[in-house]
Amino acid sequence: MLDKKITIQELQEKKKRGEKITMLTAYDYPIASMVDEAGIDMILVGDSLGMVVLGYKDTLSVSMDDMIRHSQAVKRATKRALIVGDMPYKSFDTPKDAVKNAKRFIEEAGCDAVKLENQEESSFDSAAAIIKAGIAVEGHLGLTPQSVEKLGGFKVQGRTPEAAQKIIDNAKRLEKMGCFSIVLECVPAELGKMITKSLSIPTIGIGAGADCDGQVLVIHDIIGLFERFTPKFVKKYAILAPVIKDAVRQYIKEVKEGKFPSADHIFK
Ligand code: KIV
Repeated sequence: MLDKKITIQELQEKKKRGEKITMLTAYDYPIASMVDEAGIDMILVGDSLGMVVLGYKDTLSVSMDDMIRHSQAVKRATKRALIVGDMPYKSFDTPKDAVKNAKRFIEEAGCDAVKLENQEESSFDSAAAIIKAGIAVEGHLGLTPQSVEKLGGFKVQGRTPEAAQKIIDNAKRLEKMGCFSIVLECVPAELGKMITKSLSIPTIGIGAGADCDGQVLVIHDIIGLFERFTPKFVKKYAILAPVIKDAVRQYIKEVKEGKFPSADHIFK
């Protein structure tokens, strides 16, 4: 049924049945309404907000207040999808801050769960503390954009046996501490498959191959609204930027030529 709220338990059952899980980002009311109505399982209010909506060069400048405001807009629009709020840079450096900020996503914004990037050792303690506080956590391994400097750029992770083993170990660690799912970003497809097979919780891949339990992409990438660059793992299902520019050019032309507003658009 398309209007029944998706639960974490249902996502886990989908994994057991081998049914793929779908996830997209959204950051505002109109896009979240469309994504939800189209039938997506999970909406991620990603800190990619910083790049595709706020115009920063990376995700590091996104604040908790930015995330809460945009998560609130997504919540107003969403009837069915499970909403995951992405914890921004510096918001989970200590377990205490992590719990305080995760609670904001749930209590102020109405999210159903939070996601945090697991690169620093402290992020594992923070994830454990949030789970202990009763909040559902999705982990994030592989390419973690908040650590882009440390990783030497937006590069595929887990290419050596040692690096791959570390990601596998960390995935098991996150599962053991009670994460309900893990995002795997930019890892070789074989590694995505191996991790997916070794876990009982769903993996959601982004550039991690077709064998993950689900897939996530940034909505602005798949509808062609973000023109600065397109990662290899993105497939564009629509190219809207030229459509919008054409509409604006036509409007400018008609206003200049006195064709708009016409009789249909004025009050007598
Ligand atoms: O912020 C984001 O959009 C993300 C996805 C790329 C997984 O974290």
